[in-house]
Amino acid sequence: MGVILEVKNLTKKFGGLTAVNDFSFEIKRGEFLGLIGPNGAGKTTVFNLISGFEKPNSGTIRFDGVDITGLKPYKIVNLGIARTFQLVRSFKFLTLLDNVSVSCLSKRGKKISKKIGTDEYASSILGSIGLVDKARIPPVILPHGDLRRLQIGKAIGSNPELLLLDEPFSGLSFEEQLGITNLIKKLHEDGVTIFITGHVLRELMTLVPRVLAMHQGKLIADGPPLEVANNKIVLEAYLGRGAEFA
Ligand SMILES: Nc1ncnc2c1ncn2[C@@H]1O[C@H](COP(=O)(O)OP(=O)(O)OP(=O)(O)O)[C@@H](O)[C@H]1O
Ligand SMILES: [Mg+2]
Repeated sequence: MGVILEVKNLTKKFGGLTAVNDFSFEIKRGEFLGLIGPNGAGKTTVFNLISGFEKPNSGTIRFDGVDITGLKPYKIVNLGIARTFQLVRSFKFLTLLDNVSVSCLSKRGKKISKKIGTDEYASSILGSIGLVDKARIPPVILPHGDLRRLQIGKAIGSNPELLLLDEPFSGLSFEEQLGITNLIKKLHEDGVTIFITGHVLRELMTLVPRVLAMHQGKLIADGPPLEVANNKIVLEAYLGRGAEFA
């Protein structure tokens, strides 16, 4: 498997705070990689840097061998990276179909929508996220679990190779989490490379074969989830000195 994303010595400062500190890692094509860390560790900032919502102070990001460091978000989407946001974001007054159609009309989305039609492409995505029966309603009246699904639908309309999912389980019931888990697994089986954050270890433990742990902007562990969860430095980052994983 070749490398799809290569991040080298990435650093992002907000005033005196170093949110991401000399952070380096690689993702292989087809991987299913997790990123964990306690609140404020820098996970979302890493996603913001990869997707172009923030510019790094130093370091490089290469996608498919192309230097994408500091490119605008739409250029990065057009190259094949899509993301969801930790807080749900939708076009409140558009129907679900139109919410998804927006990304189906992106450069990469058009490769499919030109062939089969935008409505058909958007409908097929609504089908895959279990919302096709709600195609004609706006998102404002949806329960939170459906809104989380919609975020993923909006992202996959751009036909990405790499999908960044920022806390996709946040605020969901156990049943809703299961639904999203199955959806993400299916996307991965279909060939999308997945990079997913969570701050609760349990959520990601069973899902990903490899996880990165970060704390105060730094990479502190990289390996199989069980190994990372039992790593002394990771335990201390989450629970303080002398902690043990139960
Ligand atoms: N735009 C910003 N301006 C100033 N500080 C910021 C900004 N964005 C993030 N930070 C700070 O950078 C640090 C990392 O934040 P980030 O949101 O990346 O963490 P996180 O790991 O995603 O946390 P959480 O688990 O709460 O989502 C925090 O201290 C945060 O307050
Ligand atoms: Mg975050």
